[in-house]
Amino acid sequence: MAMAGSAIGLGNIWRFPYMVGQNGGAAFIVVYLFAAIFLCVPIFLSESIIGKRAQLSTVGAMEKLAPGTPWKYIGLFTFFAPIILVSYYSVVGGWSVAYQVRALSFAVTDVSMTQADHSARFGSFIASTWTPLIWHTVFIGLTAIIVRLGIRKGVEQFTRASTPLLFVLIIVIMVYSLSLPGSKAGVDYLLKPDFSKLTGGAMLSAMGQAFFSLSIGVGCILTYASYMKRGENLLATGVGTAAFDLMFALLAGFAIMPAVFAAGIEPGAGPGLIFETLPYIFSTMGMTHPVISHVISILFFTTIVVAALTSSVSMLETCVAFLVDQKNWSRKKATLVLFLCCWAIGVVCSLSFGPLKDFHILGNTIFNFCDKLISNFVMTIGSLLFVIFVGWRMKKADVWDELTCGGRLRSSRWFKPIYFMIRWVSPIVIVVIFLSNLFL
Ligand code: PFF
Repeated sequence: MAMAGSAIGLGNIWRFPYMVGQNGGAAFIVVYLFAAIFLCVPIFLSESIIGKRAQLSTVGAMEKLAPGTPWKYIGLFTFFAPIILVSYYSVVGGWSVAYQVRALSFAVTDVSMTQADHSARFGSFIASTWTPLIWHTVFIGLTAIIVRLGIRKGVEQFTRASTPLLFVLIIVIMVYSLSLPGSKAGVDYLLKPDFSKLTGGAMLSAMGQAFFSLSIGVGCILTYASYMKRGENLLATGVGTAAFDLMFALLAGFAIMPAVFAAGIEPGAGPGLIFETLPYIFSTMGMTHPVISHVISILFFTTIVVAALTSSVSMLETCVAFLVDQKNWSRKKATLVLFLCCWAIGVVCSLSFGPLKDFHILGNTIFNFCDKLISNFVMTIGSLLFVIFVGWRMKKADVWDELTCGGRLRSSRWFKPIYFMIRWVSPIVIVVIFLSNLFL
């Protein structure tokens, strides 16, 4: 459940719909689904095998499984990546908290506001200096508190209750969104692929989205797998997590896109897409069902915040686990120091929507640069190293042992094709993706 909590987050609800909108709709989804199932699941399994085998977080796991080799540097790589990731993730997490508070004060269901009003309000909110910073601070602060409490007490309890609720709510919103006049264009956009729109860049973004959504390549899945017991079924966990995650992204797509078209919003509007669309859905709903729209908007933004937190916690936990396991820091000190680092990086990312919006790194704002750096480069390099480690460095017998619990599981018959994917297909495809990202 904690792994599903890590995978399902803002990546599904916030990032997926706007990526689909920016990259041409259904064709993007086709590539995304292929990448997630055939590329990301084997990577997910590789990361889990390392963590579960070593029962230690990244650096320690590499040192234990490949003592005295440079493999431990992967561990260090996966220490820095989640720091950047959680810092900019927290900015959007902060926006979600702000909208949750707005929902509580009935501002998102205000029937007097038009779509243009909602968009303008969001635009001025993220462009302002202080308000988004306050919410970013709240979000990263909450993340740090949960990490401080520890995985079992903090994350598991949280996820167990929130994930099913999130599913129910997104389905309710989807049904409503599909009933809006003009929503059919949104459904067509999601279901009728136009492969002529699928540029190389769009394909790469689809793969980056699949990596991001499954939380792979930054050591987070490895760290969570290190908390698993010996006899637990990795294959079921991996496939189950991927299935939930994909299903959730698709549901979010069908909840948001029809409303985007119904409201006449530009699907390629970018990172603000859901924050402009959801209030429109809720205020339209409020015209006929005021009480229901209040309740749903409050519950929905609350569950978005919870989904975001279960993901951000997994990122911060990865770095904290390193300092606690390897450097013998206390959990309290590690959490506090990392909280401060992530807060500071997040501040700069947040300001890149406002006062720093004209500051560009390689043609991107600071926020976009961090996001592209992580999902297009860091996650691919991390994933490559993990599959090479499992496919070529670990003994086949050990991989078999972890994946099939010594042959006891019925799923053991899947071992051969999975091992082939990990050893041959995944590394080659990842290298191609990485090089294309570099040159495109
Ligand atoms: N998968 C998360 C989401 O979709 O929101 C984001 C994420 C979490 C990425 C943890 C990477 C990670 F290590």
